[in-house]
Amino acid sequence: MKKAALITGASRGIGRAIAGVLAESLPVVINYRNDESAALAVQAEIREKGGEALVIRADVADYEQVRRMFDEIRAADYWVHTLVNNAGIIRDQFAIMMGLDAWHAVINCNLNGAFYCVRESVQTMMARRAGNIINISSISGLHGQVGQSNYAASKAALTGLTKSLAKELGRFNVRVNCVAPGFIETDMGAELLSNEKMAKLLELARQELLPLRRWGKPADIAGVVQFLVSSQAAYMTGQVLEVDGGLSL
Ligand SMILES: NC(=O)c1ccc[n+]([C@@H]2O[C@H](COP(=O)([O-])OP(=O)(O)OC[C@H]3O[C@@H](n4cnc5c(N)ncnc54)[C@H](OP(=O)(O)O)[C@@H]3O)[C@@H](O)[C@H]2O)c1
Repeated sequence: MKKAALITGASRGIGRAIAGVLAESLPVVINYRNDESAALAVQAEIREKGGEALVIRADVADYEQVRRMFDEIRAADYWVHTLVNNAGIIRDQFAIMMGLDAWHAVINCNLNGAFYCVRESVQTMMARRAGNIINISSISGLHGQVGQSNYAASKAALTGLTKSLAKELGRFNVRVNCVAPGFIETDMGAELLSNEKMAKLLELARQELLPLRRWGKPADIAGVVQFLVSSQAAYMTGQVLEVDGGLSL
């Protein structure tokens, strides 16, 4: 079996950029939920550059679909050496007005989805004494954000998951780290900007508070993930790296 990297939610945005950089050094599995043509475009781009990529549709919020995804990975003769839990959604609303559906949808995808993938991959990593897990959190999970109690809770939980797993798995040479992006220009970023009040606040923050004075790009996150899974970061585990242009300083 060949080792591979599984990136959840890799058909667009940050996940797509992560798949692109990780494919430079190992085969990648591009997971997506809805947009097959976007996922196939990522695969084509990687293959054009000489990389190996497999595309698998699975809703990470559904454990049975995650199990089937791992069956497909094994059937293709790969084992997941590097897991990037990137798939994530927002359903913003003030907590007082938030419906249970918005709460559960966000927790199921962002938190439970990450755990389901960990559960399916970690035994093989332990047996092979090698592995890397990266959880994509958010600065909302570290500092909170108005209208994002569900999202911030799911992302804060990922940092707890990261630190606990790092303590459990270090002796098996499996490292677990977390990346907490600030505002990154993706479809999710655009969704945030569609709220007029939030757009005004973000623009003010960019001009007045953001030390680097520009929003992040998916490549800014992908580069940090590439570093964390590389041997350059061999002595790092259980860490949360804020990649936000200095916004949370
Ligand atoms: N953009 C930001 O400003 C920002 C800031 C901090 C943290 N983050 C985090 O970074 C990660 C990526 O965000 P992004 O901005 O790149 O998002 P995005 O542009 O909205 O892309 C989300 C990706 O996740 C996939 N996805 C969503 N739900 C899924 C599910 N249940 N199962 C499998 N795949 C699913 C989507 O696939 P389909 O299109 O096929 O549904 C898509 O590939 C998320 O965890 C997000 O919370 C983003």
